[in-house]
Amino acid sequence: MASGKSRTGRALAERLGRSYIDTDAVIVERAGKSISDIFAQDGEAAFRQMERDVISEIAGNETPQIVSLGGGALNQPENLKVIRETGTIIRLWASPEILSERIGRKNTRPLLANLSDEERLAKIKVMLKEREPIYAQADFSVESTNDANEAHVIERIIHMLQFWNSHALDVCPSSGGRYPIFIGRNITPETACLLEGLRLSPNHEFLVCTDTTIAKAQSEMLHELRGQAGRCPIFKFQAGERNKTLHNLNQLFSFMLHRGYTRKSCLLQFSGGVVGDMAGFGAATYQRGIPFIQFPTTLLSMVDSSVGGKVAVNHPEGKNMIGAFYQPKAVVCDLAVLRTLPENEYLAGLAEIVKYGVIYDEEFFSYLEQHIDGIKRHDDETLRHMIFRSCQIKAEVVGIDEKESGLRAILNYGHTFGHAIEKLTNYDMFSHGIAVSLGMRVAARAAVMLGMIDEAAEKRQNALLDALGFPKTFNVDAEKAWEAMAVDKKAEKGARVYILPTRIGEVKKVVNVDKEIIAKAWDAIR
Ligand SMILES: NC(=O)c1ccc[n+]([C@@H]2O[C@H](COP(=O)([O-])OP(=O)(O)OC[C@H]3O[C@@H](n4cnc5c(N)ncnc54)[C@H](O)[C@@H]3O)[C@@H](O)[C@H]2O)c1
Repeated sequence: MASGKSRTGRALAERLGRSYIDTDAVIVERAGKSISDIFAQDGEAAFRQMERDVISEIAGNETPQIVSLGGGALNQPENLKVIRETGTIIRLWASPEILSERIGRKNTRPLLANLSDEERLAKIKVMLKEREPIYAQADFSVESTNDANEAHVIERIIHMLQFWNSHALDVCPSSGGRYPIFIGRNITPETACLLEGLRLSPNHEFLVCTDTTIAKAQSEMLHELRGQAGRCPIFKFQAGERNKTLHNLNQLFSFMLHRGYTRKSCLLQFSGGVVGDMAGFGAATYQRGIPFIQFPTTLLSMVDSSVGGKVAVNHPEGKNMIGAFYQPKAVVCDLAVLRTLPENEYLAGLAEIVKYGVIYDEEFFSYLEQHIDGIKRHDDETLRHMIFRSCQIKAEVVGIDEKESGLRAILNYGHTFGHAIEKLTNYDMFSHGIAVSLGMRVAARAAVMLGMIDEAAEKRQNALLDALGFPKTFNVDAEKAWEAMAVDKKAEKGARVYILPTRIGEVKKVVNVDKEIIAKAWDAIR
Protein backbone atom coordinates (compact mmCIF):
# COMPACT_ATOMS: atom_id res chain seq x y z
CA MET A 1 0.00 0.00 0.00
CA ALA A 2 1.38 3.40 -1.10
CA SER A 3 4.63 1.88 -2.30
CA GLY A 4 3.99 3.62 -5.61
CA LYS A 5 3.12 0.35 -7.34
CA SER A 6 0.52 1.70 -9.78
CA ARG A 7 2.42 4.87 -10.65
CA THR A 8 5.75 3.07 -11.06
CA GLY A 9 4.10 0.16 -12.87
CA ARG A 10 2.51 2.50 -15.39
CA ALA A 11 5.73 4.47 -15.93
CA LEU A 12 7.76 1.26 -16.28
CA ALA A 13 5.30 -0.13 -18.83
CA GLU A 14 5.56 3.09 -20.84
CA ARG A 15 9.35 3.05 -20.69
CA LEU A 16 9.51 -0.61 -21.82
CA GLY A 17 6.74 -0.24 -24.41
CA ARG A 18 4.54 -2.81 -22.65
CA SER A 19 0.91 -2.75 -21.74
CA TYR A 20 -0.02 -2.12 -18.10
CA ILE A 21 -2.62 -4.09 -16.18
CA ASP A 22 -3.85 -3.63 -12.62
CA THR A 23 -5.57 -6.88 -11.56
CA ASP A 24 -7.80 -5.09 -9.02
CA ALA A 25 -8.96 -2.65 -11.72
CA VAL A 26 -9.82 -5.51 -14.09
CA ILE A 27 -11.85 -7.24 -11.35
CA VAL A 28 -13.71 -4.02 -10.53
CA GLU A 29 -14.53 -3.48 -14.20
CA ARG A 30 -15.75 -7.04 -14.70
CA ALA A 31 -17.82 -7.15 -11.53
CA GLY A 32 -19.22 -3.66 -12.09
CA LYS A 33 -18.65 -2.83 -8.43
CA SER A 34 -15.87 -1.82 -6.07
CA ILE A 35 -13.65 -4.34 -4.31
CA SER A 36 -15.17 -3.49 -0.94
CA ASP A 37 -18.63 -4.14 -2.42
CA ILE A 38 -17.48 -7.51 -3.81
CA PHE A 39 -16.14 -8.42 -0.36
CA ALA A 40 -19.33 -7.24 1.38
CA GLN A 41 -21.87 -8.73 -1.04
CA ASP A 42 -20.19 -11.85 -2.48
CA GLY A 43 -17.54 -12.67 0.13
CA GLU A 44 -13.76 -12.93 -0.01
CA ALA A 45 -13.82 -16.42 -1.59
CA ALA A 46 -15.67 -15.05 -4.62
CA PHE A 47 -13.16 -12.22 -4.92
CA ARG A 48 -10.21 -14.65 -4.72
CA GLN A 49 -11.76 -16.81 -7.45
CA MET A 50 -12.13 -13.75 -9.72
CA GLU A 51 -8.56 -12.79 -8.94
CA ARG A 52 -7.29 -16.29 -9.84
CA ASP A 53 -9.21 -16.21 -13.12
CA VAL A 54 -7.82 -12.79 -14.05
CA ILE A 55 -4.23 -13.76 -13.16
CA SER A 56 -4.26 -17.01 -15.13
CA GLU A 57 -5.79 -15.17 -18.10
CA ILE A 58 -3.11 -12.47 -17.96
CA ALA A 59 -0.38 -15.10 -17.59
CA GLY A 60 -1.63 -16.82 -20.74
CA ASN A 61 -1.24 -13.60 -22.69
CA GLU A 62 1.74 -13.76 -25.08
CA THR A 63 2.49 -10.03 -25.18
CA PRO A 64 4.89 -8.72 -22.53
CA GLN A 65 3.11 -6.82 -19.79
CA ILE A 66 3.68 -5.05 -16.51
CA VAL A 67 1.10 -6.25 -14.00
CA SER A 68 0.21 -4.75 -10.62
CA LEU A 69 -1.04 -7.36 -8.21
CA GLY A 70 -3.48 -6.89 -5.36
CA GLY A 71 -1.95 -7.25 -1.87
CA GLY A 72 -3.27 -10.78 -1.20
CA ALA A 73 -2.65 -12.26 -4.67
CA LEU A 74 0.64 -13.95 -3.81
CA ASN A 75 -0.99 -15.56 -0.79
CA GLN A 76 -2.69 -18.01 -3.15
CA PRO A 77 -0.33 -20.84 -4.14
CA GLU A 78 -1.99 -21.24 -7.58
CA ASN A 79 -1.33 -17.57 -8.36
CA LEU A 80 2.25 -17.77 -7.21
CA LYS A 81 2.87 -20.83 -9.38
CA VAL A 82 1.36 -19.26 -12.50
CA ILE A 83 3.17 -15.96 -11.99
CA ARG A 84 6.53 -17.65 -11.40
CA GLU A 85 6.18 -19.77 -14.50
CA THR A 86 5.46 -16.81 -16.71
CA GLY A 87 7.05 -13.76 -15.16
CA THR A 88 9.36 -12.03 -12.75
CA ILE A 89 8.04 -10.75 -9.42
CA ILE A 90 9.31 -7.37 -8.33
CA ARG A 91 8.64 -6.08 -4.84
CA LEU A 92 8.53 -2.33 -4.54
CA TRP A 93 9.17 -1.37 -0.97
CA ALA A 94 9.52 1.72 1.18
CA SER A 95 10.17 2.26 4.87
CA PRO A 96 7.12 2.33 7.18
CA GLU A 97 7.83 6.02 7.84
CA ILE A 98 7.66 6.92 4.15
CA LEU A 99 4.56 4.77 3.61
CA SER A 100 2.87 6.39 6.60
CA GLU A 101 3.68 9.86 5.36
CA ARG A 102 2.34 9.08 1.87
CA ILE A 103 -0.84 7.48 3.19
CA GLY A 104 -1.36 10.31 5.69
CA ARG A 105 -1.38 12.84 2.87
CA LYS A 106 -4.52 11.34 1.33
CA ASN A 107 -6.16 9.55 4.23
CA THR A 108 -8.35 7.54 1.82
CA ARG A 109 -7.21 3.97 2.62
CA PRO A 110 -10.03 2.29 4.54
CA LEU A 111 -7.71 0.12 6.64
CA LEU A 112 -5.67 3.09 7.78
CA ALA A 113 -8.14 5.97 7.74
CA ASN A 114 -8.80 8.21 10.73
CA LEU A 115 -5.69 7.19 12.67
CA SER A 116 -3.23 9.51 14.34
CA ASP A 117 0.28 9.63 12.82
CA GLU A 118 1.65 7.34 15.55
CA GLU A 119 -1.22 4.87 15.29
CA ARG A 120 -0.89 4.71 11.52
CA LEU A 121 2.87 4.13 11.66
CA ALA A 122 2.44 1.39 14.28
CA LYS A 123 -0.28 -0.32 12.22
CA ILE A 124 1.83 -0.19 9.05
CA LYS A 125 4.73 -1.83 10.89
CA VAL A 126 2.46 -4.64 12.09
CA MET A 127 0.98 -5.16 8.61
CA LEU A 128 4.41 -5.26 6.94
CA LYS A 129 5.61 -7.82 9.43
CA GLU A 130 2.54 -9.99 8.88
CA ARG A 131 2.88 -9.81 5.12
CA GLU A 132 6.64 -10.28 5.01
CA PRO A 133 6.43 -14.03 4.14
CA ILE A 134 4.29 -13.14 1.13
CA TYR A 135 6.51 -10.28 -0.02
CA ALA A 136 9.56 -12.50 0.45
CA GLN A 137 8.27 -14.54 -2.49
CA ALA A 138 9.35 -11.75 -4.84
CA ASP A 139 12.26 -12.42 -7.17
CA PHE A 140 13.83 -9.11 -6.21
CA SER A 141 13.08 -5.88 -4.40
CA VAL A 142 13.52 -2.27 -5.35
CA GLU A 143 13.29 0.57 -2.88
CA SER A 144 10.87 3.34 -3.65
CA THR A 145 12.57 6.04 -1.61
CA ASN A 146 10.49 9.14 -2.27
CA ASP A 147 8.11 10.54 -4.86
CA ALA A 148 10.69 12.66 -6.66
CA ASN A 149 12.88 9.67 -7.38
CA GLU A 150 10.62 7.72 -9.70
CA ALA A 151 13.00 7.85 -12.68
CA HIS A 152 15.74 6.48 -10.49
CA VAL A 153 13.49 3.63 -9.30
CA ILE A 154 12.65 2.74 -12.90
CA GLU A 155 16.33 2.72 -13.90
CA ARG A 156 17.03 0.36 -11.02
CA ILE A 157 14.23 -2.00 -12.03
CA ILE A 158 15.45 -2.03 -15.63
CA HIS A 159 19.02 -2.70 -14.54
CA MET A 160 17.83 -5.54 -12.34
CA LEU A 161 15.67 -6.98 -15.11
CA GLN A 162 18.76 -7.01 -17.33
CA PHE A 163 20.69 -8.90 -14.67
CA TRP A 164 17.68 -11.20 -14.35
CA ASN A 165 18.28 -12.36 -17.94
CA SER A 166 21.01 -14.56 -16.47
CA HIS A 167 18.56 -16.11 -13.97
CA ALA A 168 18.71 -19.82 -14.73
CA LEU A 169 16.69 -21.51 -11.99
CA ASP A 170 15.64 -21.42 -8.35
CA VAL A 171 16.54 -23.95 -5.71
CA CYS A 172 13.68 -24.78 -3.34
CA PRO A 173 15.04 -26.79 -0.38
CA SER A 174 12.57 -29.08 1.36
CA SER A 175 13.01 -27.03 4.55
CA GLY A 176 11.45 -24.04 2.77
CA GLY A 177 12.74 -20.84 1.19
CA ARG A 178 14.22 -20.51 -2.27
CA TYR A 179 17.30 -19.00 -3.84
CA PRO A 180 18.17 -18.09 -7.41
CA ILE A 181 21.07 -19.37 -9.50
CA PHE A 182 22.41 -17.05 -12.19
CA ILE A 183 24.54 -18.23 -15.09
CA GLY A 184 26.16 -15.83 -17.52
CA ARG A 185 29.39 -14.38 -18.81
CA ASN A 186 30.84 -11.34 -17.06
CA ILE A 187 27.90 -10.90 -14.71
CA THR A 188 29.97 -10.35 -11.54
CA PRO A 189 30.53 -6.66 -12.38
CA GLU A 190 26.74 -6.19 -12.48
CA THR A 191 25.92 -7.59 -9.07
CA ALA A 192 25.43 -4.34 -7.12
CA CYS A 193 21.81 -4.39 -8.26
CA LEU A 194 21.52 -8.03 -7.19
CA LEU A 195 22.78 -7.20 -3.70
CA GLU A 196 20.23 -4.43 -3.52
CA GLY A 197 17.53 -6.58 -5.10
CA LEU A 198 18.03 -9.20 -2.39
CA ARG A 199 17.64 -6.38 0.11
CA LEU A 200 21.18 -6.87 1.30
CA SER A 201 22.10 -3.26 0.79
CA PRO A 202 22.81 -0.58 1.96
CA ASN A 203 22.61 -1.67 5.60
CA HIS A 204 24.69 -4.78 5.21
CA GLU A 205 28.43 -4.87 5.71
CA PHE A 206 29.92 -7.09 3.06
CA LEU A 207 33.05 -9.19 3.19
CA VAL A 208 34.51 -11.06 0.24
CA CYS A 209 36.14 -14.42 1.04
CA THR A 210 38.50 -16.11 -1.37
CA ASP A 211 41.77 -18.05 -1.41
CA THR A 212 45.31 -16.92 -2.14
CA THR A 213 45.48 -18.61 -5.57
CA ILE A 214 42.19 -17.19 -6.83
CA ALA A 215 43.12 -13.75 -5.47
CA LYS A 216 46.10 -13.77 -7.85
CA ALA A 217 44.47 -15.44 -10.87
CA GLN A 218 41.26 -13.40 -10.73
CA SER A 219 42.48 -10.12 -9.24
CA GLU A 220 40.52 -7.99 -11.71
CA MET A 221 37.22 -9.77 -11.20
CA LEU A 222 37.73 -9.63 -7.44
CA HIS A 223 38.32 -5.91 -7.71
CA GLU A 224 35.04 -5.62 -9.64
CA LEU A 225 33.16 -7.65 -7.04
CA ARG A 226 34.48 -5.60 -4.15
CA GLY A 227 33.45 -2.48 -6.04
CA GLN A 228 29.91 -3.85 -6.37
CA ALA A 229 29.78 -4.38 -2.60
CA GLY A 230 30.86 -0.88 -1.65
CA ARG A 231 34.64 -1.45 -1.71
CA CYS A 232 34.32 -3.97 1.08
CA PRO A 233 37.29 -5.75 2.72
CA ILE A 234 38.58 -9.10 1.52
CA PHE A 235 39.66 -12.14 3.53
CA LYS A 236 42.00 -14.68 1.93
CA PHE A 237 42.32 -18.27 3.11
CA GLN A 238 45.37 -20.28 2.08
CA ALA A 239 44.32 -22.29 -0.98
CA GLY A 240 43.85 -26.06 -0.76
CA GLU A 241 41.78 -28.78 0.87
CA ARG A 242 44.18 -29.18 3.80
CA ASN A 243 43.36 -25.63 4.85
CA LYS A 244 39.64 -26.35 5.17
CA THR A 245 39.86 -26.41 8.97
CA LEU A 246 38.11 -24.99 11.99
CA HIS A 247 41.38 -23.31 12.90
CA ASN A 248 41.44 -21.33 9.65
CA LEU A 249 37.76 -20.56 9.89
CA ASN A 250 38.41 -19.15 13.33
CA GLN A 251 40.81 -16.68 11.72
CA LEU A 252 37.93 -15.45 9.59
CA PHE A 253 35.82 -15.06 12.74
CA SER A 254 38.60 -13.07 14.44
CA PHE A 255 38.98 -10.86 11.36
CA MET A 256 35.24 -10.17 11.37
CA LEU A 257 35.01 -9.56 15.11
CA HIS A 258 37.99 -7.17 15.11
CA ARG A 259 36.40 -5.18 12.31
CA GLY A 260 33.06 -5.06 14.05
CA TYR A 261 31.04 -7.17 11.61
CA THR A 262 27.55 -7.58 13.07
CA ARG A 263 24.58 -9.82 12.31
CA LYS A 264 23.88 -7.47 9.41
CA SER A 265 26.97 -8.78 7.66
CA CYS A 266 26.91 -10.74 4.44
CA LEU A 267 29.68 -12.98 3.11
CA LEU A 268 30.41 -13.16 -0.60
CA GLN A 269 32.38 -16.34 -1.39
CA PHE A 270 34.35 -15.77 -4.56
CA SER A 271 35.88 -19.22 -4.54
CA GLY A 272 35.89 -22.91 -5.28
CA GLY A 273 34.26 -25.51 -3.07
CA VAL A 274 36.88 -25.41 -0.34
CA VAL A 275 36.40 -21.77 0.69
CA GLY A 276 32.73 -22.00 -0.36
CA ASP A 277 32.12 -24.78 2.17
CA MET A 278 34.32 -23.27 4.87
CA ALA A 279 33.04 -19.68 4.72
CA GLY A 280 29.52 -21.06 4.20
CA PHE A 281 29.87 -22.80 7.56
CA GLY A 282 31.26 -19.50 8.86
CA ALA A 283 28.10 -17.75 7.65
CA ALA A 284 25.95 -20.43 9.27
CA THR A 285 27.56 -19.89 12.65
CA TYR A 286 28.88 -16.30 12.84
CA GLN A 287 26.67 -14.63 15.44
CA ARG A 288 24.19 -17.50 14.93
CA GLY A 289 23.92 -17.04 11.20
CA ILE A 290 24.36 -14.32 8.58
CA PRO A 291 23.48 -14.34 4.86
CA PHE A 292 25.96 -15.40 2.20
CA ILE A 293 26.16 -15.50 -1.58
CA GLN A 294 28.21 -17.97 -3.59
CA PHE A 295 30.29 -16.74 -6.53
CA PRO A 296 31.74 -20.13 -7.54
CA THR A 297 35.03 -19.93 -9.43
CA THR A 298 35.53 -23.63 -10.24
CA LEU A 299 33.35 -25.77 -12.47
CA LEU A 300 32.91 -28.18 -9.56
CA SER A 301 31.61 -25.49 -7.24
CA MET A 302 29.24 -24.20 -9.94
CA VAL A 303 27.63 -27.59 -10.54
CA ASP A 304 27.91 -29.12 -7.11
CA SER A 305 29.16 -27.53 -3.90
CA SER A 306 27.35 -24.19 -4.30
CA VAL A 307 23.98 -25.88 -4.63
CA GLY A 308 22.30 -27.81 -1.84
CA GLY A 309 23.30 -26.00 1.32
CA LYS A 310 25.90 -28.36 2.74
CA VAL A 311 28.64 -26.34 4.40
CA ALA A 312 31.50 -27.76 6.44
CA VAL A 313 35.13 -27.90 7.50
CA ASN A 314 37.31 -30.98 7.79
CA HIS A 315 38.44 -32.61 11.04
CA PRO A 316 41.54 -34.80 11.46
CA GLU A 317 39.05 -37.69 11.86
CA GLY A 318 37.40 -37.10 8.50
CA LYS A 319 36.35 -34.80 5.67
CA ASN A 320 33.46 -32.38 6.18
CA MET A 321 32.86 -33.74 9.67
CA ILE A 322 31.97 -30.38 11.24
CA GLY A 323 29.25 -28.62 9.32
CA ALA A 324 25.67 -27.58 8.80
CA PHE A 325 22.86 -27.34 6.28
CA TYR A 326 22.65 -23.65 5.46
CA GLN A 327 21.38 -22.13 2.23
CA PRO A 328 22.93 -19.18 0.38
CA LYS A 329 20.85 -16.17 -0.70
CA ALA A 330 21.94 -16.63 -4.31
CA VAL A 331 24.54 -18.34 -6.51
CA VAL A 332 26.22 -16.38 -9.30
CA CYS A 333 28.01 -18.57 -11.88
CA ASP A 334 30.14 -16.26 -14.00
CA LEU A 335 31.60 -18.24 -16.91
CA ALA A 336 34.33 -15.61 -17.32
CA VAL A 337 36.12 -16.77 -14.17
CA LEU A 338 36.69 -20.26 -15.56
CA ARG A 339 39.29 -18.81 -17.98
CA THR A 340 42.06 -19.12 -15.40
CA LEU A 341 40.94 -22.44 -13.94
CA PRO A 342 43.63 -25.12 -14.39
CA GLU A 343 42.57 -27.89 -16.79
CA ASN A 344 42.69 -30.63 -14.13
CA GLU A 345 40.26 -28.60 -12.00
CA TYR A 346 37.99 -28.25 -15.02
CA LEU A 347 38.10 -32.01 -15.40
CA ALA A 348 37.23 -32.41 -11.72
CA GLY A 349 34.00 -30.48 -12.34
CA LEU A 350 33.24 -32.55 -15.42
CA ALA A 351 33.32 -35.72 -13.29
CA GLU A 352 30.37 -34.46 -11.25
CA ILE A 353 28.59 -33.44 -14.46
CA VAL A 354 28.98 -36.94 -15.94
CA LYS A 355 27.77 -38.28 -12.60
CA TYR A 356 24.46 -36.38 -12.95
CA GLY A 357 23.92 -38.03 -16.34
CA VAL A 358 24.55 -41.51 -14.96
CA ILE A 359 22.48 -41.16 -11.80
CA TYR A 360 19.50 -39.22 -13.12
CA ASP A 361 19.18 -38.35 -16.78
CA GLU A 362 20.13 -40.44 -19.77
CA GLU A 363 19.19 -37.62 -22.13
CA PHE A 364 21.73 -35.35 -20.43
CA PHE A 365 24.28 -38.15 -20.63
CA SER A 366 23.65 -38.36 -24.41
CA TYR A 367 24.01 -34.57 -24.64
CA LEU A 368 27.47 -34.89 -23.09
CA GLU A 369 28.38 -37.70 -25.49
CA GLN A 370 27.37 -35.47 -28.40
CA HIS A 371 29.20 -32.35 -27.19
CA ILE A 372 32.67 -33.65 -26.37
CA ASP A 373 34.29 -30.99 -28.58
CA GLY A 374 32.31 -28.14 -27.09
CA ILE A 375 33.08 -29.40 -23.60
CA LYS A 376 36.79 -29.54 -24.33
CA ARG A 377 36.78 -26.10 -25.96
CA HIS A 378 34.91 -24.63 -22.97
CA ASP A 379 32.29 -23.44 -25.43
CA ASP A 380 29.90 -20.94 -23.79
CA GLU A 381 26.60 -22.53 -24.82
CA THR A 382 27.77 -26.00 -23.84
CA LEU A 383 29.05 -24.74 -20.50
CA ARG A 384 25.84 -22.88 -19.83
CA HIS A 385 23.71 -25.94 -20.56
CA MET A 386 25.92 -28.30 -18.55
CA ILE A 387 25.91 -26.01 -15.52
CA PHE A 388 22.18 -25.34 -15.85
CA ARG A 389 21.16 -29.00 -16.12
CA SER A 390 23.56 -30.11 -13.39
CA CYS A 391 22.26 -27.47 -10.99
CA GLN A 392 18.71 -28.38 -11.96
CA ILE A 393 19.27 -32.07 -11.21
CA LYS A 394 21.02 -31.32 -7.93
CA ALA A 395 18.32 -28.80 -6.99
CA GLU A 396 15.63 -31.35 -7.78
CA VAL A 397 17.27 -34.08 -5.72
CA VAL A 398 18.06 -31.71 -2.85
CA GLY A 399 14.58 -30.17 -3.04
CA ILE A 400 13.07 -33.58 -2.41
CA ASP A 401 15.61 -34.67 0.22
CA GLU A 402 17.59 -31.84 1.76
CA LYS A 403 19.21 -33.76 4.58
CA GLU A 404 20.26 -36.94 2.87
CA SER A 405 17.77 -39.31 4.41
CA GLY A 406 17.14 -41.05 1.12
CA LEU A 407 17.24 -39.71 -2.41
CA ARG A 408 20.09 -37.27 -1.81
CA ALA A 409 22.38 -40.23 -1.25
CA ILE A 410 22.34 -40.91 -5.02
CA LEU A 411 24.56 -37.84 -5.40
CA ASN A 412 27.27 -39.92 -3.73
CA TYR A 413 27.61 -42.13 -6.80
CA GLY A 414 31.32 -42.86 -7.25
CA HIS A 415 32.07 -41.14 -3.93
CA THR A 416 32.37 -44.16 -1.63
CA PHE A 417 35.16 -45.53 -3.82
CA GLY A 418 36.46 -42.05 -4.66
CA HIS A 419 36.81 -41.13 -0.98
CA ALA A 420 38.75 -44.34 -0.36
CA ILE A 421 41.15 -43.36 -3.17
CA GLU A 422 41.51 -39.84 -1.77
CA LYS A 423 42.18 -41.19 1.69
CA LEU A 424 44.73 -43.77 0.54
CA THR A 425 46.59 -41.07 -1.39
CA ASN A 426 46.53 -38.55 1.45
CA TYR A 427 44.29 -36.23 -0.53
CA ASP A 428 47.18 -34.95 -2.60
CA MET A 429 47.41 -37.23 -5.64
CA PHE A 430 43.98 -36.72 -7.20
CA SER A 431 41.55 -33.86 -6.92
CA HIS A 432 38.17 -34.87 -5.49
CA GLY A 433 36.51 -34.94 -8.94
CA ILE A 434 39.15 -37.17 -10.51
CA ALA A 435 38.89 -39.58 -7.58
CA VAL A 436 35.11 -39.63 -8.07
CA SER A 437 35.56 -40.42 -11.79
CA LEU A 438 37.70 -43.42 -10.85
CA GLY A 439 35.12 -44.33 -8.23
CA MET A 440 32.37 -44.30 -10.88
CA ARG A 441 34.30 -46.85 -12.92
CA VAL A 442 34.61 -49.12 -9.87
CA ALA A 443 30.93 -48.67 -8.96
CA ALA A 444 29.83 -49.55 -12.50
CA ARG A 445 31.98 -52.69 -12.41
CA ALA A 446 30.46 -53.72 -9.06
CA ALA A 447 27.00 -53.23 -10.58
CA VAL A 448 27.92 -55.46 -13.53
CA MET A 449 29.18 -58.14 -11.14
CA LEU A 450 25.93 -57.94 -9.17
CA GLY A 451 23.91 -58.27 -12.39
CA MET A 452 22.43 -54.78 -11.95
CA ILE A 453 23.60 -53.45 -15.34
CA ASP A 454 24.98 -55.01 -18.48
CA GLU A 455 28.55 -54.52 -19.65
CA ALA A 456 27.38 -52.24 -22.47
CA ALA A 457 26.21 -49.62 -19.93
CA GLU A 458 29.52 -49.84 -18.06
CA LYS A 459 31.40 -49.41 -21.33
CA ARG A 460 29.22 -46.46 -22.33
CA GLN A 461 29.95 -44.63 -19.07
CA ASN A 462 33.66 -45.35 -19.29
CA ALA A 463 33.84 -44.33 -22.97
CA LEU A 464 32.51 -40.87 -22.08
CA LEU A 465 35.03 -40.56 -19.23
CA ASP A 466 37.81 -41.66 -21.62
CA ALA A 467 36.73 -39.19 -24.32
CA LEU A 468 36.79 -36.35 -21.80
CA GLY A 469 40.33 -37.28 -20.79
CA PHE A 470 39.87 -38.78 -17.35
CA PRO A 471 42.60 -41.11 -16.03
CA LYS A 472 41.73 -44.78 -16.39
CA THR A 473 43.94 -46.48 -13.87
CA PHE A 474 45.09 -46.40 -10.30
CA ASN A 475 46.41 -49.39 -8.51
CA VAL A 476 44.44 -49.85 -5.31
CA ASP A 477 45.18 -52.18 -2.42
CA ALA A 478 41.70 -53.68 -2.02
CA GLU A 479 42.19 -54.49 1.67
CA LYS A 480 43.29 -50.97 2.58
CA ALA A 481 40.48 -49.51 0.47
CA TRP A 482 37.99 -51.74 2.34
CA GLU A 483 39.18 -50.26 5.64
CA ALA A 484 39.18 -46.73 4.25
CA MET A 485 35.56 -47.13 3.16
CA ALA A 486 34.51 -48.21 6.62
CA VAL A 487 35.15 -44.77 8.07
CA ASP A 488 33.50 -42.97 5.20
CA LYS A 489 30.77 -40.93 6.84
CA LYS A 490 28.40 -42.16 4.15
CA ALA A 491 28.71 -45.56 5.84
CA GLU A 492 25.62 -46.19 7.93
CA LYS A 493 26.30 -47.73 11.35
CA GLY A 494 28.52 -50.67 10.59
CA ALA A 495 27.12 -50.99 7.08
CA ARG A 496 28.91 -50.09 3.87
CA VAL A 497 26.55 -48.26 1.53
CA TYR A 498 27.05 -48.19 -2.23
CA ILE A 499 25.25 -46.22 -4.90
CA LEU A 500 25.25 -48.43 -7.98
CA PRO A 501 23.77 -47.96 -11.46
CA THR A 502 20.81 -49.95 -12.72
CA ARG A 503 21.11 -48.27 -16.16
CA ILE A 504 22.51 -45.00 -17.54
CA GLY A 505 20.17 -42.48 -15.89
CA GLU A 506 19.32 -44.41 -12.72
CA VAL A 507 21.11 -45.64 -9.60
CA LYS A 508 20.12 -47.58 -6.52
CA LYS A 509 21.36 -47.69 -2.94
CA VAL A 510 22.84 -51.09 -2.09
CA VAL A 511 23.95 -52.05 1.42
CA ASN A 512 26.65 -54.50 2.42
CA VAL A 513 27.89 -55.89 -0.87
CA ASP A 514 30.05 -58.97 -0.51
CA LYS A 515 33.67 -58.02 0.29
CA GLU A 516 34.96 -60.29 -2.52
CA ILE A 517 32.87 -58.50 -5.12
CA ILE A 518 34.09 -55.10 -4.00
CA ALA A 519 37.70 -56.34 -4.02
CA LYS A 520 37.26 -57.55 -7.60
CA ALA A 521 35.44 -54.37 -8.69
CA TRP A 522 38.67 -52.42 -8.11
CA ASP A 523 40.00 -54.32 -11.16
CA ALA A 524 38.02 -51.80 -13.24
CA ILE A 525 40.85 -49.29 -12.70
CA ARG A 526 43.80 -51.64 -12.36
N1 LIG B 1 29.00 -28.67 -0.19
C1 LIG B 1 28.86 -29.63 -1.08
O1 LIG B 1 27.75 -30.09 -1.35
C2 LIG B 1 30.07 -30.11 -1.79
C3 LIG B 1 29.93 -30.90 -2.95
C4 LIG B 1 31.08 -31.28 -3.63
C5 LIG B 1 32.33 -30.89 -3.16
N2 LIG B 1 32.41 -30.13 -2.02
C6 LIG B 1 33.71 -29.70 -1.51
O2 LIG B 1 34.30 -28.86 -2.50
C7 LIG B 1 35.71 -28.90 -2.33
C8 LIG B 1 36.35 -29.01 -3.69
O3 LIG B 1 36.01 -27.85 -4.39
P1 LIG B 1 36.85 -27.35 -5.64
O4 LIG B 1 37.11 -28.49 -6.52
O5 LIG B 1 36.17 -26.15 -6.17
O6 LIG B 1 38.26 -27.01 -4.99
P2 LIG B 1 39.02 -25.67 -4.55
O7 LIG B 1 38.13 -24.71 -3.95
O8 LIG B 1 40.19 -26.11 -3.75
O9 LIG B 1 39.57 -25.13 -5.94
C9 LIG B 1 40.50 -25.90 -6.66
C10 LIG B 1 41.79 -25.13 -6.92
O10 LIG B 1 41.58 -24.21 -7.98
C11 LIG B 1 41.95 -22.90 -7.58
N3 LIG B 1 41.00 -22.03 -8.27
C12 LIG B 1 39.69 -21.93 -8.01
N4 LIG B 1 39.10 -21.14 -8.92
C13 LIG B 1 40.05 -20.72 -9.75
C14 LIG B 1 40.05 -19.89 -10.90
N5 LIG B 1 38.92 -19.38 -11.39
N6 LIG B 1 41.23 -19.65 -11.51
C15 LIG B 1 42.38 -20.22 -11.04
N7 LIG B 1 42.43 -21.02 -9.98
C16 LIG B 1 41.28 -21.28 -9.34
C17 LIG B 1 41.85 -22.91 -6.09
O11 LIG B 1 42.71 -21.96 -5.53
C18 LIG B 1 42.29 -24.32 -5.75
O12 LIG B 1 43.69 -24.36 -5.73
C19 LIG B 1 36.01 -30.08 -1.42
O13 LIG B 1 36.38 -29.57 -0.17
C20 LIG B 1 34.69 -30.82 -1.32
O14 LIG B 1 34.50 -31.42 -0.06
C21 LIG B 1 31.32 -29.75 -1.36
